[in-house]
Amino acid sequence: MRLKILLPVSILAVGLLVLFLIFYPPTISADLSLSTSPEGISRGEYLVTAGGCVSCHKGDEDSQTLSGGHGLATDFGTFYAPNITPDRETGIGDWQARDFIAALKHGRTPSGSFYFPAFPYRAYGGLTDQEALDIGSYLMSLAPINNYVGDPETPFWLSRWAVAGWNIMAEIAEPQAQAFEEAAVARGAYLARNLGHCGECHTPRNSLGIPDYSNEYAGAELGEEVIEPIDGEAMSDWTLDNFDLFLLLGLKPNGEFVGGDMNDVIEHNTSKLTDADRAALAAYFTRHNVAVI
Ligand code: HEC
Ligand code: HEC
Repeated sequence: MRLKILLPVSILAVGLLVLFLIFYPPTISADLSLSTSPEGISRGEYLVTAGGCVSCHKGDEDSQTLSGGHGLATDFGTFYAPNITPDRETGIGDWQARDFIAALKHGRTPSGSFYFPAFPYRAYGGLTDQEALDIGSYLMSLAPINNYVGDPETPFWLSRWAVAGWNIMAEIAEPQAQAFEEAAVARGAYLARNLGHCGECHTPRNSLGIPDYSNEYAGAELGEEVIEPIDGEAMSDWTLDNFDLFLLLGLKPNGEFVGGDMNDVIEHNTSKLTDADRAALAAYFTRHNVAVI
């Protein structure tokens, strides 16, 4: 008799504990502040460039701003990149330092809810806390722009809370970070996997939208767009200089210019990187197959 009660009670307790752990907000120090120094702001500006934030968050009215509105069509609905200027009414004017770490590194909203992974927060999870704070410093230094961006259009079964489970599955699927012997290749890997989130488009996904890391960069489809593979095999004919020039101009070794969404990546991100960072990305993509320890 007692066992009959104990068993369901303990199953319930374990279930509640699991739920608690899944939904529990990430632990972030409350004692953080955003630097307003020119150095912090300019570090943040570079991270926003190398992070490709502009391609998604550029204003639909004025593409020179980060006032949002651009729609991303996916198999799971259309997601609109929000206004990330410090406007109090329609942007992030009320954000605190910790909100930037929670959003960029953990995909959590200031109120503890979940962002949809159309926002590549899993890639940005590899940023340091200081980098997330520098990004916050830069965004808060921008001129506030009033631009209301609508909610995502998702199928009825997809709620923000479902992302909690998705996050756990994506975490389990992701392999341990590799170590690279060469400093430039390691920097390139970080720029590709984290800040530049190249795999968000170039790595295929399963039916739940979780990247298939065993086929990293093997090419994919995004909405109607076909995204070419950029793995070791696909890049075997490209030299380091070919790749570097491509990141700067979008010019391929066969003399053609790249098109589609990759144009935005070149324009807003890779063409504005430092020479050293472009070379690091090129080293990673043209040598990473042999550089793995
Ligand atoms: C691939 C497109 C994409 C890229 C690249 C991207 N974002 Fe976003 N971002 C989104 C989408 C879509 C959302 C909203 C997700 C949702 O509705 O749950 C979002 C949400 C946010 C939010 C939350 C805003 C709010 O009002 O709650 C912030 C802050 C943010 N992004 C900053 C950044 C920064 C900084 C970068 C670059 C380091 C970046 N994003 C790169 C698409 C993107
Ligand atoms: C928003 C999605 C997206 C992101 C992010 C992205 N790419 Fe692409 N990439 C594409 C698309 C789409 C194409 C194909 C464009 C075309 O049809 O010309 C492409 C093409 C390429 C090609 C040419 C491949 C070939 O054989 O012609 C290279 C190289 C490449 N991308 C590298 C990168 C690197 C490096 C990054 C990260 C810094 C990156 N991409 C991030 C969408 C993306």
